[in-house]
Amino acid sequence: MATSGAGSLISFEGIEGCGKSTQIVLLAERLRATGREVVISREPGATSLGSELRKILLDPTYDPDALTELLLYLADRREHRRLVIAPALQRGALVLIDRYVDSTWVYQGFAQDEIEPSLIERLNRLVVGDNWPDLTFILDCPVAVGLERARERNRETGAEGVADRFEQRHLEFHDRVRQGFLALAKVEKERFRVIAADREVETIHNDIWREFSLKYAIS
Ligand code: TMP
Repeated sequence: MATSGAGSLISFEGIEGCGKSTQIVLLAERLRATGREVVISREPGATSLGSELRKILLDPTYDPDALTELLLYLADRREHRRLVIAPALQRGALVLIDRYVDSTWVYQGFAQDEIEPSLIERLNRLVVGDNWPDLTFILDCPVAVGLERARERNRETGAEGVADRFEQRHLEFHDRVRQGFLALAKVEKERFRVIAADREVETIHNDIWREFSLKYAIS
């Protein structure tokens, strides 16, 4: 089934509020029903060291420069790969990740104009080795739709008014993030699937399932 060890690595990317986590859960449920081991993970923050890094990275009281921020994300990823991703792939699991190498390329590279995206590509390769995603879904929606969903989620979780460092950024930044993901998808057509995410949850899930089934020849 896979190219990353015995299992397969599937990442989900997109702007804030594009619905990645909901879709990951739905895909995982469907795959588990077929008897596969499925591991759900996310970045940043999937390990104990990573959850400390996540707090730092999302805390609006810090304002690290672009390179420091990049190195923190890579440190989180390295630990994530060592403790979660590589062992799961070795066991033959399907690993579904909420954000991975492409978020760094887009957020710290393409959208910020401070660090060459090609340097980020090289560092990402160094950090994850051959644990590159086999398949990546980009959930694409207009920035206004995503940010409203993110706000709604904050209201529901009681985190209203405490937008994290990224949610606080201006609309133009989020639009560059969106464009960055779409630019990646144009270059690496084999790996990426762009899914329109401003639709019903079930409709989006059905599209993801269709693409997944085609890729892995599931009938
Ligand atoms: P989340 O809201 O999907 O949990 O992601 C947390 C934030 O981290 C999100 O705003 C995007 C940002 N991020 C990066 O800037 N670079 C990265 O490499 C990753 C994984 C996330």
